[in-house]
Amino acid sequence: MMQFTFDAPTIIRTKRDGGVLSDAAIDWVIDGYTHGRVADEQMSALLMAIFLRGMTKPEIVRWTTAMVNSGERMDFTDLRRDGKPLALVDKHSTGGVGDKITIPLVPIVMACGGAVPQAAGRGLGHTGGTLDKLESIPGFSAELSKARIRQQLCDLGAAIFAAGELAPADRKIYALRDVTGTTESLPLIASSVMSKKIAEGTKALVLDCKVGSGAFLDTEAESRELARTMVELGAAEGLVTRALLTDMETPLGRTVGNAVEVAESLEVLAGGGPADVVELTLALAAEMLDAAGIDGTDPAQTLKDGTAMDRFRKLVATQGGDLEQPLPIGPHSETVTAPRSGTMESIDAMAVGLAVWRLGAGRSVPGGRVQSGAGLRIHRRPGEPVAAGEPLFTLYTETPEQFQAALAELDGGFSIGDEPPPQRPLIIDRITSGD
Ligand code: URA
Repeated sequence: MMQFTFDAPTIIRTKRDGGVLSDAAIDWVIDGYTHGRVADEQMSALLMAIFLRGMTKPEIVRWTTAMVNSGERMDFTDLRRDGKPLALVDKHSTGGVGDKITIPLVPIVMACGGAVPQAAGRGLGHTGGTLDKLESIPGFSAELSKARIRQQLCDLGAAIFAAGELAPADRKIYALRDVTGTTESLPLIASSVMSKKIAEGTKALVLDCKVGSGAFLDTEAESRELARTMVELGAAEGLVTRALLTDMETPLGRTVGNAVEVAESLEVLAGGGPADVVELTLALAAEMLDAAGIDGTDPAQTLKDGTAMDRFRKLVATQGGDLEQPLPIGPHSETVTAPRSGTMESIDAMAVGLAVWRLGAGRSVPGGRVQSGAGLRIHRRPGEPVAAGEPLFTLYTETPEQFQAALAELDGGFSIGDEPPPQRPLIIDRITSGD
């Protein structure tokens, strides 16, 4: 029985003044918020204090554990396919722009023999969410019961689901962070990602930790620290956990938004798609298969021979989605054209993420509806030649009054130069426990 010896104002003041929260205070506040005894405005104030003051490692560990303990923890170790335990493995990104990688990645890993229990998230701040993207497929549902998840893992090798009763504290805090300017915090990102992933019952985990203007954290050093923190949190829970540090200075691929990113993912599954999306998807697939102890399979082959596409179609159909119906696209469009000729030099991921959020692809109030058809198409990526007057970006929305704000975000968010820009490596580093 939990003793109610704490109160929210004292906990908020402790963190506001740079103090360290005790384990018991953390357990109390997370439990209280999950069950409605701590109000949204109190948790908002505490999140802002954490954002400004940070947390010690022991505080992060306890905050994560308290979030895991706020709900149930799934266990799939009893499941068998062909008499063998499932090779349970998952991936999570710290949030990017145009980051549709989970969509082609999950079916590749399925086709290679992995089993992916993917508790996916919604959009956060200027970054998109896998659930919002997949829900743009007519009929697709991520509200799966535990029995359905277990069944799908055995029969198909994957389930993509809303975290639901897993880490419900994260569900509430995630939604609050999204609308209170408290997303960009190392302890809050690490605990949010890892509480879901620990609770979802995966045995191996690969993290895609973003670096660059479109990442939540400002510097490579901070992203590296985030990756290390998450890898340690996973290892301490017995998960084989690794992270790739990857570039998020430029959006991934040529689309940013909801349905437009699903369409691009289908291109990748059909064996095409933008080179950067394919490269990162295959690198993460290789890491996942290695972490799960699966060898002798070639992820790239599953794109060539159509087995990954086949798995994706089955997964979507099982979750109610109808890929025969057209994907939605915002009925209003606006095109940005090149002011001069030259070479596309840079496209700022943050500017594009904010523009797409303004178009209606993300939320500004908790639980708000996102527009499935809101998005942006990139016609010229960095390094590609540009002629004056050519289209650079096309923006789509249901609400044309949002164009002005979206265009203002893009203003200054790209540059055209005379020379091709230096090539940036997409995969910057790999972090494993002990690094
Ligand atoms: N993904 C999450 O699940 N949480 C975050 O805070 C950021 C990315």
